[in-house]
Amino acid sequence: MRNVACIILAAGRGERMKSEIPKVLHPICGRPMLEYVFDLVEDLKIKDVIVVLGHKYHKIKGLVRPKIKIAIQKRLLGTADAVKRAIPLLKNFKDTILVLYADNPLLTSKTIRRLLDYHQRNGLDATLLTANLDNPEGYGRILRDEYGGISGIVEDKDADEFQKSIKEINTGIICFKKERLNWALRQVRPDNRKREYYLTDTIGIIYRKGGLIDSVRLSNTEEALGVNSPVELAKANKIIQQRINEEFMKNGVVMLAPELTFISHGVKIGRETTIYPFTVIERDVKIGKHCVLGPFIRIRKGSHLADGVVVGNFLEISRSQFASGVKAKHFGFIGDCRIGRDVNIGAGVVTANYDGRHKNLTVIKDKAFIGSDTILVAPVKIGKGAMTGAGAVVVRNKNVPDGQIVVGIPAKPLKKRVG
Ligand code: UD1
Ligand code: CA
Repeated sequence: MRNVACIILAAGRGERMKSEIPKVLHPICGRPMLEYVFDLVEDLKIKDVIVVLGHKYHKIKGLVRPKIKIAIQKRLLGTADAVKRAIPLLKNFKDTILVLYADNPLLTSKTIRRLLDYHQRNGLDATLLTANLDNPEGYGRILRDEYGGISGIVEDKDADEFQKSIKEINTGIICFKKERLNWALRQVRPDNRKREYYLTDTIGIIYRKGGLIDSVRLSNTEEALGVNSPVELAKANKIIQQRINEEFMKNGVVMLAPELTFISHGVKIGRETTIYPFTVIERDVKIGKHCVLGPFIRIRKGSHLADGVVVGNFLEISRSQFASGVKAKHFGFIGDCRIGRDVNIGAGVVTANYDGRHKNLTVIKDKAFIGSDTILVAPVKIGKGAMTGAGAVVVRNKNVPDGQIVVGIPAKPLKKRVG
């Protein structure tokens, strides 16, 4: 996007989260909230992006993408003050400044593009993204004059009874003509209940100087959600999960109950894979075509299931690779495991991958058959076509050769009966 620079505010304390972790690091569908606003500016192809960090910034700065510059707000004096910290980094920039809040993870690039187009096409000084909410509590309310023009914003904490009844709210997303913004920021005073410099006060200031202000209204009000508390975090999670799941279904993944299917951002799943309820899939997981997952399965970080794998019913899989056609259909734990083609994992199989100090690898070669309730104490290898009897405990480093059958505790080769 040309002639647009963006300032992202992420310095706040996030007190309402009641958490030691900075608000913008709280995960939504498996990744920090802040990543969503970074995606947004990347999608919009905005070149000059400044993120304002403050509270615990050393914990956040590692997440900031290379092309984005960082401004530090040392004292958290309010949103107007935060924007002021970013302005010096935009010295040579003249045109439109878009302000985004890092706690608005649901905004889409389509909406922002509409806002910027409207702002630039009409040569406005400031354009607000607003929404009409049934329950506007907590948000800044839009004030309008007798001609219906926007005359200011009043924060929820400072609003009187009449103003509280206004349903039109400020999403926090505003674009400005840079010179107007600069000028208005200098006029903002902390004369409110929080004793803060509010960015929202610039609107009344520009209005009183006869500036041109207008708004674009959100058609989908869910995009307005600001995440300030764990309750709002749960709402954001739910909506983003819904978006992720709908995208999968559009691409041919079958979900019996999408509202009970929890998949992290960035997971890959092939078409015609069927997912039963209570499937949890975490980050960095890849799943092939024609698989069947769940019900009740947790597939953790770093796992890769190839085509035609069937897994489910109270199983946990962690950092493991499953080749095509593997079946593990009943409860168990598979961690740090490489499993070859068409292996059958019986009910209740456990890989004992952790020896108290290290995570160790289990390798199961093609077509092996792991009997019910087998424990594989890693590091260990099970050969091609080998078999373990029900309840066997295969101890560490006692690799089972190809084609061999082992039984018992500790597992030993099955001796053929003579006669
Ligand atoms: C803000 C708006 C409100 C709007 C709502 C939408 C102001 C004064 N109010 O209220 O009109 O309806 O968002 O969600 O802007 N921040 C800083 N430095 C600071 C203070 C805040 O960088 O000194 C950052 C926060 O990290 C956050 C954003 O600014 O990302 C907004 O601050 P927050 O305290 O969440 O404002 P709200 O009360 O939600
Ligand atoms: Ca907020």
